[in-house]
Amino acid sequence: MPKVTYIIDGVPTTVEFEHDALDYSHHGKPESFLDVAKNFDVPLEHACGGSCACTTCHVIVREGADHLSEMDEEEADRLDTAWDLTPQSRLGCQAVIKGDVVCELPMYTRNYVQEGGGIQLGKSGRKHKAEEVR
Ligand code: FES
Repeated sequence: MPKVTYIIDGVPTTVEFEHDALDYSHHGKPESFLDVAKNFDVPLEHACGGSCACTTCHVIVREGADHLSEMDEEEADRLDTAWDLTPQSRLGCQAVIKGDVVCELPMYTRNYVQEGGGIQLGKSGRKHKAEEVR
């Protein structure tokens, strides 16, 4: 059973699911980060309903990138427009989970969740990697 950890505001929430046993949430690809989150009430945003047309489901994969489906061109193109993009970024509605993974929601998504809507595009309080090494 794959274990999926979502780090939101520094706090990890881990859920476990059995392949082919989840109710399909009709949000994103079946068994994607978004689909799993919907099944377990994890607050991962999805402004386009999981159709690869926004970037609110952006997650940063911290562990287990090999346990995800390959990124297709549509996801790569959409992800290119995401704020706070990292080499470990994926779209939560497109990356399908095949084994244990850990992801973190970027700061702007966390603001979205905390403030109940209206994506905050201002600079996050968190330092970017490039700033941390200076
Ligand atoms: S929810 Fe819009 S791209 Fe994933």
